[in-house]
This record gives sequence, C-alpha cells and structure tokens, in this order.
Amino acid sequence: MALGKVIFSREDIDRRTAELACEINASIPAGKIHVIITLKGALYFGVDLIRALGRQVTIGFITASSYGDGTESSGEVLLKAKDTGEITARRVLIVEDIIDTGRTLESVVNTIRSRKPASVHSVAFIDKPSRREVAIDADFVGFPVEDVFLVGYGLDYAEAYRELPCIRSFEP
Ligand code: PRP
Repeated sequence: MALGKVIFSREDIDRRTAELACEINASIPAGKIHVIITLKGALYFGVDLIRALGRQVTIGFITASSYGDGTESSGEVLLKAKDTGEITARRVLIVEDIIDTGRTLESVVNTIRSRKPASVHSVAFIDKPSRREVAIDADFVGFPVEDVFLVGYGLDYAEAYRELPCIRSFEP
C-alpha cells in the first residue's frame, strides 16, 4: 500500500468547510450548540468546522473505533462516551470525518439520543454511500466519494497519515 493522488486539496477542504458551516448555521437556530467530535478521525475537521461556524459552542468528545489496522471495517463499533459533556436539552451537532458502513454514526447517534437532547444533527466531511450497511445518513455532507480508501486530514491507515494537510487515496 502506498500514498496515491490528492483527492481533496487543502483549498478544497477549506472551501467546503466554510460552505458546510453556512449550511449548518442556516439550519440550526441561533443560540449555543453542543458540538461532539468523534475521535479520533474527526479531530481535524471538527476544529476547523468550529472555527468556521463562528458561533457559541460547547464541545464534547466521543471515541469510536471500528477499524482494526486494515482498510476494512471490523463491523463492531467500540464507543467510549465519557467526555461527551451535558447532552440533555441541548442542540447537539455530531461531527464525523467519514461515513462508510454507517455503523459508527448509528451507534453515536443512538447513544446521544438516549440522553434526551433538544435536537441532534450530524455532519460528515466524507461520505461513501456505496459502502453503507445500515440505513443512516448525515444531515450535512462535505464530499460524497467512490469506494476508495482515503488518508489524511484525520483519516488514518493503521494510525498513520492523519497529519497530512490534504486527503489522498491510499492504494496497493
Ligand atoms: C473511522 C471513521 C468513522 C468510522 C466510519 O473511524 O473515523 O468514525 O470509521 O466507518 P463506519 O461508517 O463503517 O462505521 P475508526 O474506527 O477508524 O477510528 P478513528 O476515528 O480513530 O480513525
């Protein structure tokens, strides 16, 4: 496996993040929102999005992992939800880097909903709809993509390449 071509440049990422922030701000009524960043992949996008939103937020974290060290999901989602912050009666925005099978987002949304928020929205920077195994979509999507393994901007292969400023394919 090796790094392939640039799929989304830093400029693409910045432009789409700004657009997403406008879409989200237009959809979620004025007032504080509680942003939950899904670790670890969404760390980079989550911070950039919070800056772009330019509104009052509180921040929580949930750690989800479904991949082993390979390029295929293990099918089992492990959630650690200790640092989500107060959820009850809050307007919550869940931030994901990528939706693949949908199992992680489904687990995270179910966990958050069980805590009686005022509303739940979700945003994913990358979406691979052809890979979906459960019926769930994010409310806001940065870029839909084909089924190609991606790294960079938080996305990893065996914990490597998260630090790349752009998103690249990772190929045999
Ligand atoms: C990745 C990604 C999403 C999830 C998407 O996380 O960050 O959370 O997989 O896949 P799914 O739709 O098939 O559930 P991963 O488990 O690799 O952990 P990471 O965020 O720490 O990289």
